[in-house]
Amino acid sequence: MPDRPVRVAVYGTGRFAQATHLPNLSRIDGVEIAALCDINEDALREAAAQFGVARTYTDAHAMLEAEDLDALWSIVPAFARTDVEIAAAERGIQLFSEKPQAIDMALAKWIDAAVRKGGVISTVGFRERYRPIFQEARRLLRDKRVVHVRFQQISHNPKPAAAPPTAWSHQVEKGGVRFFDWGVHATDYTRFMTGQDVLKAQAFLYHPEEYHTPLSSSFHYQLSEGATATLTFIESDPTGPGEEPYFKIYFDGGRLGVFGYERIEVNDEVVYEANPFDPWLAQDQAFVEAVRSGDPGILQSDYHDGLRSLAPILAGWDSARREGDLVDVERFIEEA
Ligand SMILES: NC(=O)c1ccc[n+]([C@@H]2O[C@H](COP(=O)([O-])OP(=O)(O)OC[C@H]3O[C@@H](n4cnc5c(N)ncnc54)[C@H](O)[C@@H]3O)[C@@H](O)[C@H]2O)c1
Repeated sequence: MPDRPVRVAVYGTGRFAQATHLPNLSRIDGVEIAALCDINEDALREAAAQFGVARTYTDAHAMLEAEDLDALWSIVPAFARTDVEIAAAERGIQLFSEKPQAIDMALAKWIDAAVRKGGVISTVGFRERYRPIFQEARRLLRDKRVVHVRFQQISHNPKPAAAPPTAWSHQVEKGGVRFFDWGVHATDYTRFMTGQDVLKAQAFLYHPEEYHTPLSSSFHYQLSEGATATLTFIESDPTGPGEEPYFKIYFDGGRLGVFGYERIEVNDEVVYEANPFDPWLAQDQAFVEAVRSGDPGILQSDYHDGLRSLAPILAGWDSARREGDLVDVERFIEEA
């Protein structure tokens, strides 16, 4: 790549873009935020003013047409994804896709095909792969026979007012639900730490109709070397998870707990204590560097690999709609 700044555009300038990616991109050397796009003109104006970006668009295709870009940060919610990433990949623009990649497996596959055909560098916002505590857990498990992974996220689900929610982030059908939002993360870090893919998925939800989102969502997986996994999202406890580890990984001979982002315990002994770390910045820096150098080697995952963290959640969601029918994840991907 010639010796000039990496020219990036941000597609979706909402809360997360303004709080995280735009500040990161502003402080990384050698990056020019060339253009912004959002259908919401208020969000667009706010981001443009805050980060000093002159060129703004409400139509992403018009932006791709008009701008000379090296990379696109796609930060619109999954339900809003259409063919924008495909059009970018066809133009040879490298793709940072926030998770979840899509709410529909067929669309994620089309985007993946375009990314591979275009030969562009890609990644998905599975930022915890960059955090040393997860890398350490992966290292500690390398010579272990993993038996079971247990992940749980415990939060509060206030009884909503009678009016339907307007924000996508409170609407199940738009993916505004914990098991989708954090489920793809938890699936990805399960795969990352154990080195195993998800073969089969099944899920059950407890969703009384007076709540916008389920009070409990329970996903069950069979992993590729035989281990089992459960991801549980409980949304009924105002006091939260207390000292519960996020991940507890049972192996032949013991157990490893990842306590938040703070420490790892093996068989109740603290074996790792984390220093403060910003995985969002680390991931943005890595992607800029990959684009600058043309070498994706420093990235922890790409769009194609991300499909294997998305599919088990979409397959489980499908299972929950069919009273917990078992779904073969490879077939689910193939037939989408
Ligand atoms: N990896 C992480 O750590 C992490 C953390 C937070 C959010 N996220 C992801 O980032 C995404 C955005 O989350 P958010 O909290 O910023 O949501 P948000 O609703 O605050 O912002 C999304 C923005 O996208 C815009 N948008 C929607 N459809 C569009 C379209 N067709 N064209 C252009 N703009 C469009 C909206 O107007 C809005 O401004 C979600 O997918 C979320 O899961 C990832």
